Amino acid sequence: MSKPTFYITTPIYYPSDNLHIGHAYTTVAADALARYYRLTGYDVRFLTGSDEHGQKIERQARAKGVSPREYVDPVVADFKKLWDLLLVGYDDFIRTTEDRHRVTVQAVFQKLYDQGDIYKAAYSGWYCTPCETFWTGRQLAGDNCPDCGRPVEMLEEESYFFRLSRYAGRLLQHIEDNPSFIQPAGRRNEMVSFIRMGLEDLCVSRTTFDWGIPVPFDPKHVVYVWVDALTNYISALGYAQPDDSLYRRYWPADVHLVGKDIVRFHTVIWPIILMACGCPLPRQVVGHGWLLLDSGKMSKSRGNVVDPVELVEKYGVDAVRYYLLRELPFGADGNYSEEALVTRINTDLANELGNLVARTVAMVAKYRGGILPAPGTPDGPDEELRDLAVAVPALVAEQMEARSLNGALDAVWKLVKRANRYVDETAPWNLAKREDLAPRLDAVLYNLVEALRFTGILVSPFLPQVPPRLMSQLGLAGRPDLTAWEALVWGACPSGTRVTKGPALFPRIETAKQEK
Ligand code: MSP
Repeated sequence: MSKPTFYITTPIYYPSDNLHIGHAYTTVAADALARYYRLTGYDVRFLTGSDEHGQKIERQARAKGVSPREYVDPVVADFKKLWDLLLVGYDDFIRTTEDRHRVTVQAVFQKLYDQGDIYKAAYSGWYCTPCETFWTGRQLAGDNCPDCGRPVEMLEEESYFFRLSRYAGRLLQHIEDNPSFIQPAGRRNEMVSFIRMGLEDLCVSRTTFDWGIPVPFDPKHVVYVWVDALTNYISALGYAQPDDSLYRRYWPADVHLVGKDIVRFHTVIWPIILMACGCPLPRQVVGHGWLLLDSGKMSKSRGNVVDPVELVEKYGVDAVRYYLLRELPFGADGNYSEEALVTRINTDLANELGNLVARTVAMVAKYRGGILPAPGTPDGPDEELRDLAVAVPALVAEQMEARSLNGALDAVWKLVKRANRYVDETAPWNLAKREDLAPRLDAVLYNLVEALRFTGILVSPFLPQVPPRLMSQLGLAGRPDLTAWEALVWGACPSGTRVTKGPALFPRIETAKQEK
């Protein structure tokens, strides 16, 4: 039987600046979901990319005296380096400047025009020439441009418009019939009220700049950047291209993961484009919250961005991934602080997980010469530890399906904490003092190793560096049969394996070092 498919996407980022940890959050979260679905047997496709057209990029390039293409190429190369650094395992990276993307966008635009969903009309508005932007009368600051404060003039130009209004009823119906389409529910309610207020036709072409995809039948216009950008999700699958086998295999997307700022584009414009093309709608759009700095939005212009590269160099990739995924409660905003990051590393990773590994491995070495003993008969808290361990995979699954990554990590940490308590309760150092308690000590050591094996499998979507390092300490390197999701069967770990001490998984961060 062929595997079920799972297609997940991130937003495609603007190469107008380097990415900050807010962007890294979205992509790492998508990566954790992709890894989880791969682990649990899905045929996963994970897409990310760059959104390269538009006036802003054109201007920034001009200011630097280079072509837009010369401007974006190194920035996009840095995006890819960042994703490699963060161990983001995407399957495809789409750039909107690629030919394959242009072919799809032009085909979609042409189709919508041919069937009367896109029409040409005169567009009039107050135009600010230095800003190359139209404003409505209400947006003006007195008689001037609200952005730069300079005088505006009344201009009329021809533009293409997309009849969003024609599809509003069908879209509302779809949202009502599919409660999981927009998540979390709060965002769904916002979108429903927004659509109910009535949709105006959308201006989908521009003549005020050139850096974009030409409208196929009227090349002095370029396609509006959001229509261009959203189409990446199907252009990367070959839709309307000679080979559309990926489209047939993976569409509709299972999850478009986006920040709350762009939920509206993904739940109004994008589904309407798809409906008009006769394509199925994505199964879900998840709008996550923002990572705030000093309770405000991170932005380059405000100068308050945190560079993920620096953080990874300082703390390691798994620590940064863990912090991002654990800190933002599903759907809500969270505040970034380096202090909180260090606390997470020291508490959850070093004290709870790292110590559990170090203590267990050291005890097997000390009391059993590094050879994992047989489990023996359960006693004391053994069954409670086992029952929790076998319950956690389902809890993780439930949280992942609800797209709550912090919830899934909470579930795994229940096991980590329980196992630490188990060490304290069973006090193996006391058992080791009495020959007659040797079978009891065997059981305790076995159960601890088994709990760690479970933990290694369960954390792998979030902390990809942990499983290889942990499993080699447990003597399970090269045993994919014991480290796969299907191996979450209590007691599957064979006794007799050689447990070897390795470097600390997560060394504690000295706070003085952090202050420096
Ligand atoms: N190019 C568009 C998206 C087109 S998708 C068809 C765009 N790009 S962006 O570079 O501005 O970044 C978009 C995404 O980055 C946001 O939607 C969000 O997912 C993520 N984030 C940017 N800042 C963020 C935070 N401070 N916190 C969390 N996510 C943030 O919009």
